[in-house]
Amino acid sequence: MRSYLFVPADSDRKLEKAPGAEADCLLIDLEDSVSYRRKAAGREMAAAFIRSQAENGERARIIVRVNALDSGLTGDDLDAVIASRPDGILLPKSEGGAHVQELDAMIAVREAEAGIAEGSVRIHALVSETAAGVLSARSYIDMSPRLEALAWGGEDLSADLGVETNRDMEGRYTDMFRLARSLTVLGAAAAKVMAVDTVYTDFRDMDGLERECRAAVRDGFSGKMAIHPAQVPVINRVFTPDANAVERSRKIVTLFAEAGDDAGVLSLEGQMIDRPHLRQAERILARAEAAGMSTS
Ligand code: COA
Ligand code: MG
Repeated sequence: MRSYLFVPADSDRKLEKAPGAEADCLLIDLEDSVSYRRKAAGREMAAAFIRSQAENGERARIIVRVNALDSGLTGDDLDAVIASRPDGILLPKSEGGAHVQELDAMIAVREAEAGIAEGSVRIHALVSETAAGVLSARSYIDMSPRLEALAWGGEDLSADLGVETNRDMEGRYTDMFRLARSLTVLGAAAAKVMAVDTVYTDFRDMDGLERECRAAVRDGFSGKMAIHPAQVPVINRVFTPDANAVERSRKIVTLFAEAGDDAGVLSLEGQMIDRPHLRQAERILARAEAAGMSTS
């Protein structure tokens, strides 16, 4: 999945607009973009929205961002939405694999109550919103078969660290935020799940967004979160693998398939190709397939 569009759960207008935004995934938000007073309304609106999309065969995946485990609100959030069968739950302010395990158990109970097959509802975790979260990036390995992606966020981390700003004078993330971003990719790769890049908050600056998308693709992220529908086409375009790279990846996979199990090193167009190239090629083809490109 390339694009993840945040949609505040208590906004009729934005819920109505969201399906037309062409995002691969909608993140229906019950956390930071919904005030405490509006949580109950947001829960009902989120559940109704998911049900309204059930018959839509072309629909985006739908993931609900619940409130953090220490908020005391997570159980009520799940009670309201699981029976309508979201594709997943996004856990904010996750501080490690134990949090994901706890959420896994909370979801399992509600899946059973709703008669939904265990494990249907997946988990995405925001892993860098607190200092403790950043330092726990390694702990997601083998914690829950539901876990599908780790994402990072810089805004809450800024508040937790008490920094004045998270960007330097050239607009680059400062070291602590670059570390959080890098640990998210490393943690995701170690746990064999997707890494998702954080939002670009300046939603009128498409050049800045594009630059950040390119850096994310370069560094191993498979998608990026958005806050505004106008950001989605840019994200989809940059995260769709380039046709030449797909063609070359297909050649590499075919070459290894033809060479059989004993193949170690091969050559393609005058370049050495070995197992790491094969893994890289398989990743590009998986991304191409997820983007709806033909890969055969
Ligand atoms: N999802 C769906 N529709 C959205 C949207 C979103 N995230 N953001 C904006 N829109 C809609 C607006 O409702 C508006 O539609 P309308 O003209 O029919 O009312 C249209 O897109 C254009 O919006 P625009 O006027 O450019 O922006 P805005 O000032 O209304 O909204 C934000 C700006 C940032 C408040 C809004 O984009 C938003 O709420 N983003 C999500 C925030 C969020 O979830 N944050 C939590 C994670 S960091
Ligand atoms: Mg937040």
